[in-house]
Amino acid sequence: MVTGGAGFIGGNFVRYMLDTYADAEVVNVDALTYAGNMESLADLAADPRHAFVKADIASASEMAAVFEAHAVEAVVNFAAESHVDRSLHVGAGAFIATNVSGVQVLLDACRERGVRRFLQISTDEVYGSLGAAGRFTEESPIRPNNPYAATKAGADFLVRAAWKSHGLDAVITRCSNNFGPYQFPEKLIPLMIVNALEDRPLPVYGDGLQVRDWIYVTDHCAAIDAVLRRAAAGRVYNIGGNHDVTNLSVVRRILAILGKPESLVRHVTDRPGHDRRYAMDSTRIREDLGWTPRHAFEEALDATVRWYLDHGPWWRRVRSGEYRAYYERLYGRRLAEAGAAGP
Ligand code: NAD
Ligand code: DAU
Repeated sequence: MVTGGAGFIGGNFVRYMLDTYADAEVVNVDALTYAGNMESLADLAADPRHAFVKADIASASEMAAVFEAHAVEAVVNFAAESHVDRSLHVGAGAFIATNVSGVQVLLDACRERGVRRFLQISTDEVYGSLGAAGRFTEESPIRPNNPYAATKAGADFLVRAAWKSHGLDAVITRCSNNFGPYQFPEKLIPLMIVNALEDRPLPVYGDGLQVRDWIYVTDHCAAIDAVLRRAAAGRVYNIGGNHDVTNLSVVRRILAILGKPESLVRHVTDRPGHDRRYAMDSTRIREDLGWTPRHAFEEALDATVRWYLDHGPWWRRVRSGEYRAYYERLYGRRLAEAGAAGP
């Protein structure tokens, strides 16, 4: 079972597993929130190895029905409210419901049904922010700084407790910032690509010198597959792209690829409590499981920009509806203050 498979990473993971293993069978459980999109799974509609179920992981009865209908061997939990800015500006309620309560519902169901393995997709954000030097290891203290990260940290502790107290075979992966096809254009890279394509201003928070460690989504999927199949129960793995760069340098590179002017950049009021730097030490997964990222950042970013160029109808439809109100709420005033018209 893959949860959150109508979203960005979950959808890429479903496709990765079906492409990699002829005998893979996936039940894809997703509540189809604003971030879930059946259009992203259109190419899988005719594949008999893929079954989609619309359901909420925080509903014990809906999860019981899914487990009843499908012989679930393992659960990979991607389902989450995933956007930091929404947790800050829209509210933390949905984050607590899905990212904390939903995880406990899944853990209980796995225990009751004798599911062989539960894999929690976590994040480097649980570690908080780094200073000028060093990288996060799996032993770094858990110090989340925003509501999204706090709920993901809470989930990690619940997963650990299910393993320690009840002997559930559970593992956790903590990955850095992903990019690639089908990413919702509220996140930095797709937002900057689609705004630049339409010659709209690019809202860079603060000085833009915050550092993130970028990984191409397929490399993340390969790491999850290795952990799912070969990790020892209770193990935690960091996953990073080993490419930590400033946000401003990422934005400038996107502009260069598209041949757009740097005058589109607007420095807007910063995100509250903004983590300054993330960088991952992925030694453990390299040494234990032989995983390493295969995609160079530059070529993967080129491919991602090309994907958005080729999929205009996908992101234009995504940006209609709820997205417009969200964008205005988050960026309208900030862009006006920075001296640019809104969308
Ligand atoms: P996303 O927002 O693109 O997709 C999330 C999916 O979960 C959506 O399809 C949504 O409909 C579904 N969902 C939300 N609430 C649900 C619920 N209650 N029940 C069932 N489905 C629900 O997110 P993403 O970027 O693909 O992230 C996937 C996972 O990876 C998340 O757990 C996130 O914390 C983690 N993660 C993301 C990144 C990143 O860079 N995007 C990095 C590290 C970890
Ligand atoms: O690090 C892993 C995390 O990466 C995941 O756990 C989250 O689910 C995922 O959303 C992502 O979180 P970030 O907050 O790092 O990603 P985001 O794309 O929102 O922002 C990346 C950086 O870019 C961050 O420093 C904030 C900045 N930013 C973002 C947006 C949307 C801007 O400067 N302007 C923007 O408009």
